[in-house]
Amino acid sequence: MQFEGKTVVVTGGAKGIGSACTRAFHKEGASVAVLDRDAGGIELADSLGARAIFIHCDVSREAEVSAAMSEVSSLLGGPDILVNNAGIQRYTTVTETTEEEWDLVMNVNLKSAFLCAKHAIPRMQERGAGVIVNISSVQAFISQKTVAPYVTSKTALLGLTRSIAVDYGPQIRCVAVCPGTVDTPMLRDAIQLSPDPEAVYQECMDMHLVKRIGTPEEVAALILLVAGPQGGFFTGQAIRIDGGLGITIAGSKREEF
Ligand SMILES: NC(=O)c1ccc[n+]([C@@H]2O[C@H](COP(=O)([O-])OP(=O)(O)OC[C@H]3O[C@@H](n4cnc5c(N)ncnc54)[C@H](O)[C@@H]3O)[C@@H](O)[C@H]2O)c1
Repeated sequence: MQFEGKTVVVTGGAKGIGSACTRAFHKEGASVAVLDRDAGGIELADSLGARAIFIHCDVSREAEVSAAMSEVSSLLGGPDILVNNAGIQRYTTVTETTEEEWDLVMNVNLKSAFLCAKHAIPRMQERGAGVIVNISSVQAFISQKTVAPYVTSKTALLGLTRSIAVDYGPQIRCVAVCPGTVDTPMLRDAIQLSPDPEAVYQECMDMHLVKRIGTPEEVAALILLVAGPQGGFFTGQAIRIDGGLGITIAGSKREEF
């Protein structure tokens, strides 16, 4: 029960990594608030029972974020920990991307983290401490094709992470967690776009040195570690949890390379 007495806000907590993270914090004694625009979060909060609430919120809109943080404060106190997890993917190159698509990805993946931090930090300061975990991606370091807005947003999150850590330390720590491929609705939806989803799934597994994709629970475990009492020396950094994705030297024909 290492998070007893703490309030945790998880954006995009209705599904995937956010849902696993919400469950894990709750299991460790935290009060949890799921901020999501997907009403599936109601079911999750109900299934957890006491110490769990769902707030319908589009985290890319400041008025909604501000109202949600006030509600969290008055119902649960805090927050002490904010997990900026909500995210979307779009498959486009720069020349294919419309201005609307670019803005949408930036708003949901990047602006939301700025807005939630902006409205959480003063409340953390009142409590004397806080931790913000930004869910970036291994694609902040290596990139697949046709995901220009996503890669840009996830890379920019590392800058936001550094700025928050520098500006609000030592009371507030901020860490970016960068997963490789993880089995979530986002991944399942993405591979359904292919004519051969099974082959794409296999390809995803083969890309990782561990020859499988990650689970939301594995990412949640890292989030709890960096946010918890044993993670006090993590701040400002990006931590990869990626099964070795992308560290092989590519292009060589020689097996031993
Ligand atoms: N799944 C992966 O392979 C993978 C890899 C690296 C990074 N990530 C990142 O991890 C995070 C979670 O991904 P996931 O795979 O669990 O995704 P998911 O699609 O399964 O879940 C994302 C959640 O975010 C919510 N959301 C989206 N836009 C929102 C908005 N404007 N306001 C509030 N909620 C919103 C959705 O409703 C959903 O509940 C994302 O930031 C994603 O980019 C995922």
